[in-house]
Amino acid sequence: MKPVFDTDKRIRLGIWGLGRGATFIRSAAALNIDVIAGCDLHPHMREEFRKNVPDAFITADEDEFLAYDMDAVLIATYLPDHAKHAIKALEAGKHVMCEVTSFLTLADGVRLVEAVEKSGKVYNLLENYPFTKENMYLRKLYQDGFFGEFQYGEFEYVHECRGLTYAYNVGHGLPIEPGYTLHAWRSGLNYHLYNTHSLGPLMQITGLRPISVTAPKNTVFLDGTFPAGRSTSVAASLITMSNGGTMRNLMGTTTNDYHRNCRFWGTRAGAENINGLKIRVGASGYGVMVDMKAEWPEFGELADSMGHGGGDFWELYYFAREVLTGEPAPWNIYAAADVTAAGIQAARSMANNAQLTEIPDFRKQEDRDRYRDDNWDPRNPDFDPMHIFPDGHDPAITGNFNSVMLKLFPLHRPEGLNLAAQVYDGMKIFDQIGNGDQRHIIVERGWKLVQWMPEIAEDCRAAKVIADAYPDSMPGKMIHKLLERDEVAWVLDTEKSIAELKAWLRERW
Ligand SMILES: NC(=O)c1ccc[n+]([C@@H]2O[C@H](COP(=O)([O-])OP(=O)(O)OC[C@H]3O[C@@H](n4cnc5c(N)ncnc54)[C@H](O)[C@@H]3O)[C@@H](O)[C@H]2O)c1
Repeated sequence: MKPVFDTDKRIRLGIWGLGRGATFIRSAAALNIDVIAGCDLHPHMREEFRKNVPDAFITADEDEFLAYDMDAVLIATYLPDHAKHAIKALEAGKHVMCEVTSFLTLADGVRLVEAVEKSGKVYNLLENYPFTKENMYLRKLYQDGFFGEFQYGEFEYVHECRGLTYAYNVGHGLPIEPGYTLHAWRSGLNYHLYNTHSLGPLMQITGLRPISVTAPKNTVFLDGTFPAGRSTSVAASLITMSNGGTMRNLMGTTTNDYHRNCRFWGTRAGAENINGLKIRVGASGYGVMVDMKAEWPEFGELADSMGHGGGDFWELYYFAREVLTGEPAPWNIYAAADVTAAGIQAARSMANNAQLTEIPDFRKQEDRDRYRDDNWDPRNPDFDPMHIFPDGHDPAITGNFNSVMLKLFPLHRPEGLNLAAQVYDGMKIFDQIGNGDQRHIIVERGWKLVQWMPEIAEDCRAAKVIADAYPDSMPGKMIHKLLERDEVAWVLDTEKSIAELKAWLRERW
């Protein structure tokens, strides 16, 4: 394959945080990037990394890592630490790519922007969703004037990540240790902070920046999540963009996953990307809606072979291009600050009864000065993922908490308790399901459940042991509520339910 860049220069890269961070190894080589070092606090993350990059320098010590001879650092550590880690890497003389989002408080934001400017190094936010085929094509059309002016949009990143409350993001998930603590930042997350995969694409398509936001509080949580003061399970906000248009931003953990849906209205044409890109032409609500097949501008084959619909390829591509040729990448520190500040201000709006809240522009000195000492922290002040059981709890009981919860809610898979719910609820609506293939999926999952029901019942009992020992703790209350679900009673009556299920399945297929 023809090389992407017309140069032999290579970029020596270290990866800091080896969960999501390690997924970039595959895209790197084709983009003149050599992964030569890795850093993670946890031995199992380092071991996994070593399997993929055996010759790399691998350490748990961030100072030793940053002292290593390399040009750039990719930061994929815990979200609240990104600004601190980016500033440290810039001060060590490295270019920085940083996973979403860029900072946790607006004061951190000002510090980071100024650290990037002072360093003279490249800083890119690793925001990948603007670079799907569909979003890149929409950008091209928008920049050509096809849509007219942006009027209104709905963009979504709805992703049920419950398992990541209990697990490290590696393979099918490894339970967090010690088992009686939760994930450092994903448990109790205010999803307004995780706004880049939905607001990011709109910013990229239109070139507009967000200027204010209002966000109502939603107090309805899914079982298996941790409701606390500032967390949300569904985060919806209305954002005013710099041209006066409006955007509805939606993130969260729900029972209806839409990783990257959008609906988009311009003054000349509209578009939607819900299971496929469609465009309405005719500068009118009566225009024709046509199905589109978006193509990559270039390097299609390479991009197609990488993660997140090619987005992971493009974010590394733009970074490498900027380091190698000086041509600016789209997600520089100012765009990163716009999108990150919008999330923080949405969380703040939510905490203040949906008060309309401005989104500062850190390109401007006066905005920096106004927020330089703003240390408002969007996390829950009364929720500590390290202390979810009462003092003096017995680790022989509580130490199983994460492994049991991860079995009930496995990472990104329709298994565990969700398998029981799918079959239980699927049976109720089965005869009205219009599509034969989909009926077949319910039946297939039913047979799977016949096999797995005894194990799921065992996991429910193991969870009950923990909840019964600490009924007033947050996990105790959460488990007891979870176990009240109808399908749990069904699964716990295992022998009878398996017999009934088998009879039902035989009749259907
Ligand atoms: N763009 C995307 O599609 C996407 C997908 C997944 C994750 N992410 C982002 O990637 C980042 C990492 O997420 P993740 O899914 O890997 O889960 P994670 O947050 O559990 O992983 C962070 C890793 O960093 C390590 N770490 C934390 N602090 C460290 C330190 N000081 N020194 C060394 N190692 C340290 C942890 O041990 C852990 O392995 C997050 O910011 C998340 O927002 C982005």
